[in-house]
Amino acid sequence: GITRHYTFDVRLQNVTHLCKTKTMLTVNGKFPGPPIVAREGDQVVVKVVNHVQNNVSIHWHGIRQMGSQWADGPAYVTQCPIQSNHSYVYNFTIKGQRGTLFWHAHISWLRATLYGPMIILPKKHEPYPFPKPHEEKTIIFGEWWYNDTEAVIRQALQSGGGPNVSDAYTFNGFPGPLYNSCTGAKGLEDTYKLKVKPGKTYLLRLINAALNDDLFFSIANHTMTLVEADAVYLKPFETDILLIAPGQTTNVLLKTKPIPSHTSYLMAVSPYFTGSGTFDNTTAAAILEYEMPPKLSSIHKIINVTSKDLPRLPSVNDTSFVANFRNKFRSLNNAKYPVDVPQKVDKNFFFTVGLGTSPCPKNQTCQGPNNNTKFAATVNNISMALPSTAMLQSHFFGQNDGVYKTNFPQFPLKEFNYTGTPPNNTNVMNATETVVIPYNTSVEVVMQDTSIVSAESHPLHLHGYNFYVVGEGYGNFNPNKDPAKYNLVDPVERNTVAVPSGGWVAIRFRADNPGVWFMHCHFEVHISWGLRMAWIVLDGKLPNQKLPPPPADLPKC
Ligand code: C2O
Repeated sequence: GITRHYTFDVRLQNVTHLCKTKTMLTVNGKFPGPPIVAREGDQVVVKVVNHVQNNVSIHWHGIRQMGSQWADGPAYVTQCPIQSNHSYVYNFTIKGQRGTLFWHAHISWLRATLYGPMIILPKKHEPYPFPKPHEEKTIIFGEWWYNDTEAVIRQALQSGGGPNVSDAYTFNGFPGPLYNSCTGAKGLEDTYKLKVKPGKTYLLRLINAALNDDLFFSIANHTMTLVEADAVYLKPFETDILLIAPGQTTNVLLKTKPIPSHTSYLMAVSPYFTGSGTFDNTTAAAILEYEMPPKLSSIHKIINVTSKDLPRLPSVNDTSFVANFRNKFRSLNNAKYPVDVPQKVDKNFFFTVGLGTSPCPKNQTCQGPNNNTKFAATVNNISMALPSTAMLQSHFFGQNDGVYKTNFPQFPLKEFNYTGTPPNNTNVMNATETVVIPYNTSVEVVMQDTSIVSAESHPLHLHGYNFYVVGEGYGNFNPNKDPAKYNLVDPVERNTVAVPSGGWVAIRFRADNPGVWFMHCHFEVHISWGLRMAWIVLDGKLPNQKLPPPPADLPKC
């Protein structure tokens, strides 16, 4: 591999969309930020320079960081944030991974505007396990807020209630409303257009960087073939509609029509949401625009797309579509891309994940449920408090005292039997607890949506690892029956899996990457409410199985 150097200047920039200019945090003045493009085996060196007042850190979502644990990025977990007028060099080598990932800020809610694609191409001369596409295009979904991020965070964290919703979903930064009162007929100038030629195959790299929204995606009159999820190849399958949770990435092949009847087709996203409270229930669109060769363009007039031309999308709470869609994911599992799912498990965990409530702080009024309570979110009844120093540093130097504890429960603190009426006392405990496991432990985690407050799909992301999704279902997990139905042959391998709304999911991984690894819901509001925990994987015996010392420029708290 070669070394790819990048400089990320975090600075303020004026950006205009939906007829308003706002000053936002950007990387290199871009929204979304610049893509990282590298090949499997390359070394990536990114110097992040903080020119703003906020503390900053960047996470390379889905990169395993084997041997480069100090480059993972979550603030107060693997590093202290980069302070104003300071810089830090993220230095990592991409080993055994290729596909679509993304990078994003990993402190407070700054990823609202600080994010961008990470494209890892296969090694030189290494083909894709599907027909070579004519061209590759990336679409990163996000949100546009008229308010600045700070105000959005403040509202969400101080109200104790649900977060305000964004003003538009975006495609590569372009807002989704086609025509609205502000843009009027000029609306399409502020709309994302994906230009394609007739009769070709495109590889679309789709990334959900939205803060709090699962998104359905579809293209009118076109079918897609899914070939990769979270930078792992899939057994290909066709679909008209896909679902992508925050933190997930999906690659699809799109065959364009040889002789299209229109020059433009609409692509659209809309939310999937089963919880209670506010959410952005809008359909956002972008345009798939055919560039016609001259001999075709004479017979094709430009037809202006209108909302009548939107693709059909499922209704907002269509969990049966979601269940059916999830069922289709299988690993490729061939000689070249084998499945290595642990067949035996050394340690089983059962995690309840979901929302709860906690008392409103004194001198405050809170907008949570049950009158003046505050939302909290937990794993095994623990709402994780972040320390004020980096856990990985404390771990490396053996100084965890007062930083974190090591008794994260294997099972919920309060025995799990949530059917029927939710309990009044949701037993939320605030703590900084970790699970400590020896190197190479084979781990199974069953994650159960508690459905307390409301049943909701939670996209759980594990840092430093991919895991296999061996089982999932709706209702309560049954330890006597469900494991017999696990797929231990070709389960999908990913870094972010949604705990089904009102259901459970079982994952397995081998703990072959020493370090401190964050695991959390990828809904920003749930992470703030505490739906997060950390794994500590101890060193192995061999030199390459040990956590290396921190780099000299590691930021200080
Ligand atoms: Cu993409 Cu810890 O997050």
